[in-house]
Amino acid sequence: MMQNKHILIGITGGIAAYKICSLIRDFKKSGAEVKIICTPNALNFVTKLTLQNLSQNEVYEGEFTPQNWKPEHISLSDWADIMLIAPATANTIGKIAQGIADNLLTSVACAFSKKMIIAPAMNCNMWQNESVQKNLKTLQARGIEYLPPEEGFLACGYNGKGRLCSLKKIYNAVDEALNYSETLKGEKVVITAGGTIEEIDPVRYISNYSSGKMGLALAKSAYDMGAEVVFITTKDFEVPFKKVIVKSALEMKEAVEKEFETADYVIMAAAVADYRVKEQSEQKIKKGDEDTITLELVKNPDILADLCQKKLAPHPYPLPKGARERNCIIVGFCAESENLLENAKAKIEKKGCDFLIANDISRKDIGFNSDENEVTILDKNGNITKLEKAPKKIIARKILEWISTK
Ligand code: CTP
Repeated sequence: MMQNKHILIGITGGIAAYKICSLIRDFKKSGAEVKIICTPNALNFVTKLTLQNLSQNEVYEGEFTPQNWKPEHISLSDWADIMLIAPATANTIGKIAQGIADNLLTSVACAFSKKMIIAPAMNCNMWQNESVQKNLKTLQARGIEYLPPEEGFLACGYNGKGRLCSLKKIYNAVDEALNYSETLKGEKVVITAGGTIEEIDPVRYISNYSSGKMGLALAKSAYDMGAEVVFITTKDFEVPFKKVIVKSALEMKEAVEKEFETADYVIMAAAVADYRVKEQSEQKIKKGDEDTITLELVKNPDILADLCQKKLAPHPYPLPKGARERNCIIVGFCAESENLLENAKAKIEKKGCDFLIANDISRKDIGFNSDENEVTILDKNGNITKLEKAPKKIIARKILEWISTK
């Protein structure tokens, strides 16, 4: 739903600028209001008149032609619900990452505190340049979403990764971002992600294939829905919210419990190892003469089940500072390679959580390491709901909407 939404589009000087004309039409057809800022170079690729006609608004380029008492870069950022920069050149990406505000577009970007999406497009060698990648990470860490370019024939004659992603992708990303409800505003959401790492000796460990992508998608969506997010993860991602990096199940447990008393939601998306090595060797274990070696493993605590027990226990006295009433919603994930529903039903009962998100890991097209997922949500009252296969980002949002409104 884009009706009456205000979309501010920044166009920079790349050949893909011409493609944005169709996108403006699509936004307008959907009922959005569109305003456009061009860098001086953008107007070498597309004319002001075209953009003016399509957006039915004035096209902004100079910083010193204010229409009212407010400086243009402030009034435009106040006006917009979302800012899209497409195509975004390496130059503009670099400036925004470094806080340089030397033209109207970069000045608005610097003053902009709402949702921003950028769609880079450039030569494939420029795309791979270390500083371009570093700048993108900086932007990501600030909560700016970027839509990676695609592979293909580039205007510069090269074939490679660098062309603007499809207009459909850009349209959908803007549509989705505009429709985030702030349902989690004021709520503290603790999310775990990744597989735990259980050390054997200084060079070896036991772990699993979890990529942390589902947990990351949940954390990003919760953040977009207005939550205060604490992301406890074994994988290091660039994120704009509090991140606690842990390794083992024991470290994860400590980090989760530290946040639990003040949390409104705890979502255990991490793949926690059930066992750890009983005695970690301080030195590297040397190869012996025997053909076999035995590692003794001990059970790790079940973080999720322990939290559910804690929730039932009386409040500690005195209450820790900022502690909430005991109504924290606890969500578990379950990865199963067979008998999904049967195992999931038994698991929600055993662990005692409010919701359990069941994943079928026998399918290669979803789950571990994949960008898509298909899950079944169980609740403690025995209700079962299936979310059809979709990108993890969409699944994450649906899960959060589900658990925050039921
Ligand atoms: N979990 C946990 N602590 C553990 C093991 C699992 O908190 N020591 C959490 C996971 O983060 C997940 C849920 O429990 O949210 C279910 O994890 P899963 O591995 O499917 O279940 P297990 O209890 O380990 O059972 P099994 O491996 O036998 O299927």
